This record gives sequence, structure tokens and C-alpha cells, in this order.
Amino acid sequence: MKTALINGSPKVKSSNSGILLEDLKAYLVETEAVEFGLHTGTAAKEKAEALNQADALVFSFPLYVDGIPGHLLSCLADLEEASSKSKGIRVYGIVNCGFYEGIQAEPALQVLQNWCEKAGYVWGGGVGVGGGGGLAQMPKTKSGHGPREPIEKALKALAEAICSEHVQGDQQAQDHQQIQENQYVSVAFPRFLYKLAAQMGWRQMMKASGGKARDLGRRPEGGED
Ligand SMILES: Cc1cc2nc3c(=O)[nH]c(=O)nc-3n(C[C@H](O)[C@H](O)[C@H](O)COP(=O)(O)O)c2cc1C
Repeated sequence: MKTALINGSPKVKSSNSGILLEDLKAYLVETEAVEFGLHTGTAAKEKAEALNQADALVFSFPLYVDGIPGHLLSCLADLEEASSKSKGIRVYGIVNCGFYEGIQAEPALQVLQNWCEKAGYVWGGGVGVGGGGGLAQMPKTKSGHGPREPIEKALKALAEAICSEHVQGDQQAQDHQQIQENQYVSVAFPRFLYKLAAQMGWRQMMKASGGKARDLGRRPEGGED
């Protein structure tokens, strides 16, 4: 069984979506995992065809304005065009967001699920990860410990669902259309500290690019109060 791990962040390097796929990959023991990146608004024909050869697709992407990033939506249209509707490829989603609460990712997972229905893929379930914005800064701790523990647990359950579909076999999986319930998790880190750390990070970024914290509240010229 071949599982395509698709990084749908526009960031080519150091994305939180990539970190989550790495974690998931460690749990995918019974399947060949192949990595793909959809970082721009086009999925080239060869890539779209290669993805449609997989048995399962796992999309990991950031939440943008409560939805799926625009470039990834374009890629989904390319994939759909290259799909063979009868194959019943399973699709899973991992959506990470800057807000602390993973439930923020619910609408984006629903959009992905609806797309599966339209495009002939079989929805398998997903994980919404709150506090995703801090993942790159969090140290990798021993499995089962540290701020990433709830996320690792959810990814392990997702990996088990992916592998168990493989054990059941394609036809049986299509007949039963078992869907793992979406799981919504957050980092195991106090909310107020997460918020403080995020605000410090934004101020540092703003300073590094020559701005000032007070610029945040500034209205564009001619804008209303
Ligand atoms: C244009 C844009 C829109 C965003 N919209 C949301 C949002 O609606 N809700 C949210 O919780 N986070 C939002 N975020 C934060 C990202 O989801 C968050 O930083 C994520 O961890 C980035 O993941 P990546 O490193 O895989 O790209 C947004 C970020 C950007 C750049």
C-alpha cells in the first residue's frame, strides 16, 4: 500500500505542516510513505497522476482565513482532473492553525470532505491541530511527553486508521466507507503563555522587517476610524 504525504503549506522549508507529516510518518509502519509538496497553485500533470496512483492521500496544510489556502484549492482542481473516479483513493486531512483551539480547523476539514464527495475520493477523516503556529519552536521530546503529546496521540490514531484500511483491503473499505471521526487537539501548553509567545514572536518579526509594534493599530491613509 502506498500513502502519499502531501505538504500543502506554501512554505517549502520549515513548515508546521511538514513537522506534522514527519510525526505521522513515524507511525505509518505498514505502508510505503511517499512525500510530495504542493507549495504553489499548480499540481503538474505528472505529479497529479502520481498522486492518483497512491492508495491513500494525506493532506497536511495550514488554516488560512478559516479555510484551505487558495494555492492548494487550485491544486485540488488539478488532482480532480487527473483522477480515476473508480479507484476509491482514501483522503485524510491534517489542518494546523495559529489559534490555540484545534476546532478552528473544522470548516477546512469539511471543505476537504465535500471535495472528496465531488471528486470521487473516499473521505477517511482528519485532525485539527490548534497551536500549530508554535510547533517549529517546540523541542522534540520523548514520545508521550511534552507539549506535542496530544498531537502525537491524535496522529498515531490517524496512522492506525490509515493502516487498518489497508488491512481491510480496498473493496471492503469502499463497501463500508468507514470514516474516522475528526479529532481536534491543541498543544499541551497553557493558552495564555502560547498567546504571549505568539505576540513576542510577531513583535520580533516586525522589528526585523523595520516596523514598529504601534504600526499594528495604524489605519491606512484615508481609512476610517
Ligand atoms: C494568510 C494567512 C491566514 C491565516 N489564517 C488563519 C486563520 O484563519 N486561523 C488560524 O488559526 N490561523 C491562521 N493563520 C495561521 C497559520 O495557520 C499558522 O501559522 C500555521 O501554523 C502555518 O502553518 P505552515 O507552517 O504549515 O504554513 C493564517 C496564516 C496566514 C499566513
